[in-house]
Formats: sequence, structure tokens, C-alpha cells
Amino acid sequence: MIEVTAPGKLYIAGEYAVVETGHPAIIVAVDQFVTVTMNAARKIGSIQSTQYSDLPIRWTRRNGELVLDIRENPFHYILAAIRLTEKYAQEKNVLLSFYDLKVTSELDSSNGRKYGLGSSGAVTVATIKALNEFYGLELDLLEIFKLAALAHLEVQGNGSCGDIAASCYGGWLAFSTFDHQWIHQQNNCSVTQLLQMDWPGLLIQPLEAPKDLRLIIGWTGSPASTSDLVDQVHQSKEQQQTRYQEFLAESKKCVEQIIQGFLTDDVPLIQQMIRKNRQLLNELSHLTGVTIETTALKELCELAESFDGAAKSSGAGGGDCGIVLFNQKSGILPLMSAWEKAEITPLPLHVYTRCRKEAK
Ligand code: PMV
Ligand code: MG
Repeated sequence: MIEVTAPGKLYIAGEYAVVETGHPAIIVAVDQFVTVTMNAARKIGSIQSTQYSDLPIRWTRRNGELVLDIRENPFHYILAAIRLTEKYAQEKNVLLSFYDLKVTSELDSSNGRKYGLGSSGAVTVATIKALNEFYGLELDLLEIFKLAALAHLEVQGNGSCGDIAASCYGGWLAFSTFDHQWIHQQNNCSVTQLLQMDWPGLLIQPLEAPKDLRLIIGWTGSPASTSDLVDQVHQSKEQQQTRYQEFLAESKKCVEQIIQGFLTDDVPLIQQMIRKNRQLLNELSHLTGVTIETTALKELCELAESFDGAAKSSGAGGGDCGIVLFNQKSGILPLMSAWEKAEITPLPLHVYTRCRKEAK
């Protein structure tokens, strides 16, 4: 039996700007996992995903018609990951065969609500890692990232793929997305050729966290749809081009300072820039009319700030999680009790770095 895992992730800074090439984000992998197991089968294969079968399938209406948002359904990510990896395997003259593939996930809460830890990215990465072992493809981390990013793009056209980078590499990362337009123009290339090429704009820079930096995560309990929020921001940015470009430039400057803070062990600088990034995202909210920092996230941040933490929403916002960065010396227990009173759940997660060590 083959068993592989891929960790979930949290965005720390640079959200929304990171969907545009050349604008970095800071992302961290956390120790909650999607696990994929595979067993060889004969003549008939199966795909099972117990965790997801309980999830409601979201739908909306377009012109009166009921439409499913396939981007919310992990099954499509599994299928796209299989299709692309098998295409690659065929190009390598590997004989395709049958298997039973089973997915389990810790990235969803017990009652089926998502924590927002990136299960679609992690399930794509875990599926590719399992097939990599099954077919003996010997893909390295960057090749796994590229395959997973291609699979992800097929299902969810509008993401940065930063969650995939975090799931592949683990630990703290600075990430900038590749030129998506360029990828679309390479439609005559084989998968093998695509994996061999340098992808313009792509930056995956593993970072060492300063030893005094402490990450605390709070969950608001309400789920949010990242792809839907990103769509909404994109719809309204057209009318506000100048201010949107300013947001992009400011976000880039801010995240570059955070990277500097990591490289020079400067926790106060990192904290200052987390606060700045929160402010920039609030401005983006005003600009687009999209609620990023919900009332619960605002409360989460204000309570954290009152105990000297630097806080902001994580990822697309609209619910899910908020993050707080502390200087190791400050106590965090009073914040935990304050959060609990405000019905914010502290998530006892840790940064996960094993994938990097495994790759060495
Ligand atoms: O909500 P999350 O944790 O999936 O993060 C989304 C981050 C965005 O920058 C808004 C979108 C993206 O794909 O990078
Ligand atoms: Mg989210």
C-alpha cells in the first residue's frame, strides 16, 4: 500500500495581490493533512473520499439556471491531478494500470465545515505524490508543484497556486505566481516539456522564521469561498484600475519588507508590516465592496492587538481564519480566553517543515 500526506496552509500576508504575477505572498504549511492511500487493483479502479461526501455541494443560479461551482468540490481536483499525472506517465512510456485511491482529510472540521486550510490544494498535491510513487515517476518537489498547479488551473482558473506551493514545500515560504497567460500560450507543449521549462514569474523561496516569532491561529467558525471572493474582487477592480494598481504596488512593498524581516530576524518589522497589510486589505475591501474582514475577523484582530499581537485575516477572508504574530516573549494565554469568550476558536496548529527535510 502507498500512503502519502500533504499539509494544509495558511496565508500570512500578500493575499489578493498574489494572484497577479510578480506580487509576493507569505504562506505557511501547518500540521493538518490530507492523506491519500493507493492499492493496486485489477480491471476496475475506485476513488473514495469519505470526508468530502458529507460536504454540501454548493450551487448558485446563472440566468435562472442552477449551476454547480465545481471549484468547491475536491473530486474535480483529484480527477484533474490523475489526468495530468497519467498524461505525464504515458509520455514517459509508463504502462497505466488500475488502483483504488482513497482520500481522507483533517482539513475539514468534524461537522463538515471547512477550516479554510486549503484542502483543494492539498488534495491535488497528495494525489500527485501518491501517483508519483505508484508509477515510480521520480518527480521532484518543483515538478510536483508544476503538475499540481496545472491541475488546479484546469478546475479553478483564478487562484495564485500559493496553497499548492505550501503543500509541496512545507514551512514558511515567499511565493509569487507564474505568468498564467504564458502557461495558456504553451498549449502545444507536452506535459514533460512544461515541467522542464522555467515558468516566468514563479518564485518559491523557503524562509527560516526568526526564532522569536510565534504564530497563533484563530478560527471564526464560518466558511468562506475563496474562488467566489477572488471573482468578486476581479469584477470590481476593472472600474478602479488606478487604485487597484496602487494596492498591488503597496502590497508588494509590504511583503518585501516582511521577507526582509525574516532574513534579518526582525520580528518588530514583520509585525509592523502585518498591520500594514491588514490596512491595505481593508482598503481593497472599500475599493471593491467585497467583505474581507468580517465582524468576527475584526474582533479576532482587535483582541489580539490588545495583547500586543500583530493580527490580520488570513487568505481570502470573508470568514475562515485570522492569524496573529507574536514576539515569543509575550504571553498568549489571556488572548486565548478572550477569544473563547468571543466564540473564536484557537486552532492548536504548528508549522510543518517535514516535506523539505524529506526532499533533502
Ligand atoms: O482563503 P485562502 O486561504 O484559500 O486564500 C486565498 C488567497 C487569495 O490570495 C485571495 C487567492 C489566491 O489564490 O492566492
Ligand atoms: Mg479562506
